[in-house]
Amino acid sequence: MCGIVGFNGHKNAAPVLLDGLSKLEYRGYDSSGIAVRDGEAPVRVVKAKGRLSVLCEKTDDGRAVAGNCGIGHTRWATHGEPSETNAHPHCSDDGNVVGVHNGIIENYQELKDKLVKKGYVFYSETDTEVAIKLIDYYYKKYLGTPIDAINHAMVRIRGSYALAVMFKEYPEEIYVARKDSPMILGVENGESYIASDVPAILKYTRNVYYIGNMEIARLQKGNITFYNLDGDEIEKELVEIKWDTEAAEKGGFEHFMMKEIHEQPKVVEDTLNSVLKDGKIDLTEVGLTEEEMKEISQIYIVACGSAYHVGVAAQYVIEDLARIPVRVELASEFRYRKPILDKNGLVILVSQSGETADTLAALRESKELGVKTLAIVNVVGSSIAREADNVFYTLAGPEISVATTKAYSTQLIASYALALQLAKVRETISEEKYCEMIQELTTIPRKIGKILEDKERIQWFAAKYANSKDVFFIGRGIDYAICLEGSLKMKEISYIHSEAYAAGELKHGTISLIEDGTLVIGVLTQDHLYEKTVSNLVEVKSRGAYLMGLTHYGNYNIEDTADFAVYVPKTDEHFATSLAVIPLQLLGYYVSVAKGLDVDKPRNLAKSVTVE
Ligand code: F6R
Repeated sequence: MCGIVGFNGHKNAAPVLLDGLSKLEYRGYDSSGIAVRDGEAPVRVVKAKGRLSVLCEKTDDGRAVAGNCGIGHTRWATHGEPSETNAHPHCSDDGNVVGVHNGIIENYQELKDKLVKKGYVFYSETDTEVAIKLIDYYYKKYLGTPIDAINHAMVRIRGSYALAVMFKEYPEEIYVARKDSPMILGVENGESYIASDVPAILKYTRNVYYIGNMEIARLQKGNITFYNLDGDEIEKELVEIKWDTEAAEKGGFEHFMMKEIHEQPKVVEDTLNSVLKDGKIDLTEVGLTEEEMKEISQIYIVACGSAYHVGVAAQYVIEDLARIPVRVELASEFRYRKPILDKNGLVILVSQSGETADTLAALRESKELGVKTLAIVNVVGSSIAREADNVFYTLAGPEISVATTKAYSTQLIASYALALQLAKVRETISEEKYCEMIQELTTIPRKIGKILEDKERIQWFAAKYANSKDVFFIGRGIDYAICLEGSLKMKEISYIHSEAYAAGELKHGTISLIEDGTLVIGVLTQDHLYEKTVSNLVEVKSRGAYLMGLTHYGNYNIEDTADFAVYVPKTDEHFATSLAVIPLQLLGYYVSVAKGLDVDKPRNLAKSVTVE
């Protein structure tokens, strides 16, 4: 997830670009850059590592860069660590084509190999440089128009992209192309604008065009022409944006948390696609070889908070599918307990930020003990990503809300992919089962989307229970892992005391806390444990609890026991966490909203815990 802006008009472009980028920093903030043209003069590119303020300083807030046509980019690294070299814009060798990109080019290695054979030299590690040089290649090969060149490149590129490109021979024009990444184009007073998201240009115009998938646009000053893949002109309707500026920054959602909850189908799909090749999982980029996977004697999953809860779910999945013993540990405990690690073990560190102090310390401790480490991390170039032997990057994009939702969901998907690959390599599941399960994994994004369509029911329930004093979440097996995360979501943003219990543990103490009207949420996605958990629900109901049952469609008899039932689509039981957690994220969110709390920035908490 990165942010793109563009401007072609009469004002100085650089200040407009920097201003637009400042509204898109939520989409990425590890580096940024602009490319500006002053009439026929060669394009001027300025890039900087770090927050946008570094680029502003470097360009005297844009005043030091002349020209009224340009493009800009704020980056969230996916290929190649955050650095000035990897920052956008990227250029072809002779400066013929310069461009910025948001998205992921899945076949970039194959395209890069082809271009290297044709004599292209690469200076960065990015997939974007490949896209720009591919356009340059087709432009020179067919001696056609920029539209022809972009068309040829689009046919060859697999993945998602929003591209904004300038050509040396077309000084007063910007070209854009889009597939599956957001992009809008605006016009006002004889000037044209490009943005990944509305807030970047709202100050200048409310009149925008939505460019469709596999479409191209040519921006002249105040005039935008659209083309399809055949190069034919197509008509577009100008739409007026009615949002206020603050709502626009959150994509029309009231809070970043809700926006991020809704991004889950997309980021889960992106993360899965990053390791899928021809319907199979390919961990080449992660760096784990089949030989290494065969030799693992023991897995240790070490993390904090929600990332730890991913570990708890992963433990059930890996042990069941790959038959490797798994221990899950809180990083803050692991680091101080002089862990005894098996030399053939694998330590998996799970972290969104890649900077959590305890997880980083656990990684260093494991390395010191000579055990191989694998990090499942969201932030490219973070300390944990840099220091671990192998890295599985989740593609959640920047997460702004303190309470994690989308990063957690991508970590789950990464752990399923890992479990399935371990199982395949170690032959603990059949080839047929492996393919079947991968097929099922690809349905998860759509199923998450389906659950989100039904969110008003949860909103209604949350309003009713917003004044609860205590909430208990109970479940068995994987359902217990779901409870841990549901309970954390509830307490961290709604400030209601909540606990997650393995349902069988209740009667060893906790049940004495149940009073008349105490809300107990039972999670029942695992069919072989269903009856057992129902019995535990009956036990608390007879002590006065009010019951919410969360299960999959088909288990309608839950309504004989629960006072309120929530259903999620059925999936392979190993993957149930990915679906059942969604209503619990929504529940925590809506309770917090109903109580009028600061959802995105709950008290006493920080997004990244870099101290002990
Ligand atoms: C809860 C939450 C935290 C983090 C934890 C680890 O919503 O976000 O519990 O999961 O602080 O952070 P990372 O994943 O950055 O290591």
